[in-house]
Amino acid sequence: MIRTGIYNLRQFNPAALKDVFGKEKNISIEVYSQLNQVYDSQLKEGYAEIVLNRFNSSNNVIKRTYRNRFNSFDDMVIEIIQNLEISSPRIHDMAISDGRASYYFLEKIQNHFHDVEYHASDLIISYTIHKKKSESSSYIVTDDNLNIIEITVPPFVWNYARKEGKLYFLNNLLKAYFKRKFYKLIIGKQLKFRKTLPVVDYGFKSLLDKSDKNKLLNYNIFEKSHYQYNVIRAMNILHFGYFNPEQLNAVLDNVYESLLPDGILIEGSNEDVGSPVEGAVYRKTCTGFELIISSDKPSRISDIVLNYNKS
Ligand SMILES: C[S@@+](CC[C@H](N)C(=O)[O-])C[C@H]1O[C@@H](n2cnc3c(N)ncnc32)[C@H](O)[C@@H]1O
Repeated sequence: MIRTGIYNLRQFNPAALKDVFGKEKNISIEVYSQLNQVYDSQLKEGYAEIVLNRFNSSNNVIKRTYRNRFNSFDDMVIEIIQNLEISSPRIHDMAISDGRASYYFLEKIQNHFHDVEYHASDLIISYTIHKKKSESSSYIVTDDNLNIIEITVPPFVWNYARKEGKLYFLNNLLKAYFKRKFYKLIIGKQLKFRKTLPVVDYGFKSLLDKSDKNKLLNYNIFEKSHYQYNVIRAMNILHFGYFNPEQLNAVLDNVYESLLPDGILIEGSNEDVGSPVEGAVYRKTCTGFELIISSDKPSRISDIVLNYNKS
C-alpha cells in the first residue's frame, strides 16, 4: 500500500486529508508558511491547527496552545511591571509554543510601553528548509542541529517522528532511502538553498514584527541564555508535570543568571483556557527570589522558587 502526502495549500481540502483507508496523510510543515494566502482568520487558524498536529519534531514537541489563556493574570502582571517603573522592559517569554497564549500579553505590553524589547522562545520555534535550488520541489526540513524532521519528495511527505504504519511498506522503503540520500546531500553541502520557517501564530508574528528589537529564538530553558532581561515570563512549563525539583532548580539557575538586578520572574500554570492561573511574580534578590505577588491560587512551584539559593 502507498500513501501520498500534502505539500501544497491547493491540496488542502477536508476530503484530501486522509487516504482511501481513512489514515491521516502527512502534511508538510511548508504548508504552514503558505497559510498567509488564507484570508479568513478562522479558517487559517483551523488549517494551522491541523498542520501543526501532524508535524512532530525529533523530540516530539507538538505545538498546542490557546489564545486568551490567562488574560486576567496577564493584566495583573502588566500592572506590576508598570508599578515597578520598568520604563524600557527587556522581556524574555520562554516556552511560548506557537505564541497564541502570549498574544494578549504582548499586545498589552506594546500598548503600555513604547520602548519594549521582547524575545519569544521555545525549544524549537523555527526550522530550516534545505533544497538544491529555490525552485526545487523536493526538500528536507531540519532543526538547528541538522536533525532531519521531514522530507518532501512530491507526491510524498515523510515525517521522521511519525510512523507510516507497517502496511505501507513502499512508503517505509522510500522513507528510509530518501533519508540516506538527503543525509549525504546535506553533509556534502549540496543543498545550498536555505529558508527559515518560523512555526508561530500569524497574529503573534505580526505583533513581533512591529519592532526590529523583537526576536524569535530557539532556546532550551536548560541552557544559559545569551541575553539579559528585566522580565522573564514562563507560563505552563515550570511545574511538576514537566520537571522534578532538581530540574526546576537547574532552570532557575539560568533564569537567575539572565535576570538583571531587581529583574522579575513571572511564572504560572493553568488547565483550560481562562481557568485560574496558579502563579506568582518574584523579584531577583542578591541570593535568590522574593515574592512580589501571588495570584488567588498559589503557584505550584512557589516553595521551589522561594527556597532557591544562588550558590
Ligand atoms: C504546555 S506548552 C506551554 C505553551 C504556552 N506557554 C502556554 O502557556 O500555552 C509547553 C511548551 O514548552 C516547550 N518546552 C518543553 N521543554 C522545553 C525546554 N526544555 N526548553 C524550552 N521549551 C520547552 C514545549 O515546546 C511547549 O511549546
